[in-house]
Amino acid sequence: MREFIYYSKKARTSGNWKDLKKAGRMDIVCNVIIQALFISNKMREDVHLHLIFNGAPNPPMHLEFVSNKDIPISKKDVAGLIKRMLYKCNENRKIEVFPGCFIEKKSFAKLVKELEDKGKETCILDTKGEDIRKVDDKKLNNCVFVIGDHEGLPRKEIKKFKNKVSIGKKIYFASQTFIIIHNELDLRGV
Ligand SMILES: C[S@@+](CC[C@H](N)C(=O)[O-])C[C@H]1O[C@@H](n2cnc3c(N)ncnc32)[C@H](O)[C@@H]1O
Repeated sequence: MREFIYYSKKARTSGNWKDLKKAGRMDIVCNVIIQALFISNKMREDVHLHLIFNGAPNPPMHLEFVSNKDIPISKKDVAGLIKRMLYKCNENRKIEVFPGCFIEKKSFAKLVKELEDKGKETCILDTKGEDIRKVDDKKLNNCVFVIGDHEGLPRKEIKKFKNKVSIGKKIYFASQTFIIIHNELDLRGV
């Protein structure tokens, strides 16, 4: 499984919004979901995507997508899927809203710790990191790639990561970062 965390500082944590941009840049979240989960005409079969929403009114929220053919996702209505998941959130337990689509109250720090406790290497995407082309297959295969929103990851969080990976000196949209990582792994057959 290719595993990713997308961190959004301002994405709304309730489902009562209409304007994607005003909902804490939910437009970027939608692009991230599409680029993480899809290739032309089909869903990727090997993706585990975590989204952390830290916006008002009820942060933090952890939405999780484990790719499978039964996810009821249409590229035309990703926002609708996010809303339906947010409406179903339960304060006390993780809910599987649709097959492979989960929501729970969980912070970024707790999620990262849990993944590391399971033996995963968390790798933050950062222009100052190690060139992805120089990272060996074995390490890339075990990485959980951590990607920030349009404002980037909070400085205090960046400092906590020992693994930093770069995809070049140019700064890409978060959603483009997913495409580039997927392409690198596709080319390597990892
Ligand atoms: C639009 S960028 C964030 C821009 C923000 N102003 C900043 O400087 O961090 C969104 C995310 O994509 C990732 N990213 C973008 N370009 C990258 C690159 N060349 N190498 C590694 N990660 C990159 C980073 O994780 C970043 O937080």
